[in-house]
Amino acid sequence: MADSYTPPAEIAALVANVNKAADGFSAAVGGDLHAARRNLQLEARKLLYSLEEPNTEVWPRIFQVNVSAAIEIVGNLKLWEHFEGGKTVTMAQVLELTKADEIIIIRIFRQLTAANVFAESAGPSWTLTPLGVPYLNPDHRAFNNLMFVDIIPSIMAMPRTLAEHNYKAPTKETGTPYKWAHGEELWTWLGSHPDRALNMVAGMRSHNAGNVSGDAYPWGQELGKLGLKYEDVVIVDIAGGQGHIMEEVRKRNPEIKGRFIVQDLPSTFEAVAGPPEGVEFMSYDIFTPQPVKDAHIYYYRHIFHDWSDADCTTFLEQVVPVLKAQPKSKLLLVDLVLPDTNVTMQEAIRDISMFPIGGLERNETQWKELLAKSGLKIKKIWRGSEPEACVECELL
Ligand SMILES: C[S@@+](CC[C@H](N)C(=O)[O-])C[C@H]1O[C@@H](n2cnc3c(N)ncnc32)[C@H](O)[C@@H]1O
Repeated sequence: MADSYTPPAEIAALVANVNKAADGFSAAVGGDLHAARRNLQLEARKLLYSLEEPNTEVWPRIFQVNVSAAIEIVGNLKLWEHFEGGKTVTMAQVLELTKADEIIIIRIFRQLTAANVFAESAGPSWTLTPLGVPYLNPDHRAFNNLMFVDIIPSIMAMPRTLAEHNYKAPTKETGTPYKWAHGEELWTWLGSHPDRALNMVAGMRSHNAGNVSGDAYPWGQELGKLGLKYEDVVIVDIAGGQGHIMEEVRKRNPEIKGRFIVQDLPSTFEAVAGPPEGVEFMSYDIFTPQPVKDAHIYYYRHIFHDWSDADCTTFLEQVVPVLKAQPKSKLLLVDLVLPDTNVTMQEAIRDISMFPIGGLERNETQWKELLAKSGLKIKKIWRGSEPEACVECELL
């Protein structure tokens, strides 16, 4: 088996590539930072993969879901909070708190230490690593739960359901792979299960945590050019959830005058007492004509990746007449814009994760094709440090 390892000379070449990518990363600024970081990640991962024995990697690859299962278990045992403030928690404390068997705790924490969620010291005792700290945020735990319980089963069913559908892409008529696995669409299922819908809302906050308002679009700089008045509708955030993005844009740009409207389904708003400060809620179904006719910006974040081209075209056509009537309005779509080749693991996972609900992440060509169906083209792709890009569109 020894000769299945990558030869040292090849590893040295990969190290050189990592160093070159690291130099590029050090020199990058602004929108280039995203591409430079991605390139460094790709080269660093190639190096790490080359150090593995290919056959032994088959097992850990199969069992990657062990990590999300272990994260679920730590949540069920109500342990995360005990790691607040960088605290070290000993085995004796964990046993006292959980009444679990020591052997169970050892094995769960082994998994999460190997995944670099915890750092382990002799004793044993554990502290959170930087990769573990996010789990102090209940939104991330809710997202793990939503994915683990509600979405991953439909991904596990994909080999069967795709074969049953002759490997044809889902359409409106055939329904999504989620429906193939569970008999109904995720959105209708969440509509009748408000407790799970809350997890979706938290999941969306989790999805945006760390870069919540997104820096792909330079809000302050661009909104500042509009000469806004208090009565203006500045942004309509379409399917904007409970307004967490607009809340953050407001907070980061307190000088911006005008109204920020968040549209979503009534069930999304019913789950909270009211909108965040400086934000208005408006019930709206994206498949019906856009009722706000005079906004400066129509904004969709993490919406297009949820839907097929056919569905996106249907809801784009609800806003295009408004853009035609008022050409100064901007249309901004925030999602990943994948490279044509060599996507990262994170990008590939995000694409396949959208598959059960009939969505996908798109590369620039796919965005162009989609937009052209509604008489639109890309004006500019804005990038900041977040993985998402902001696709500014204009009429053809
Ligand atoms: C992936 S979340 C994105 C939320 C928010 N834009 C963000 O970036 O966090 C999708 C949102 O679409 C909303 N949604 C789904 N179907 C909708 C519809 N037909 N009309 C309006 N909103 C809808 C959901 O309620 C949810 O808030």
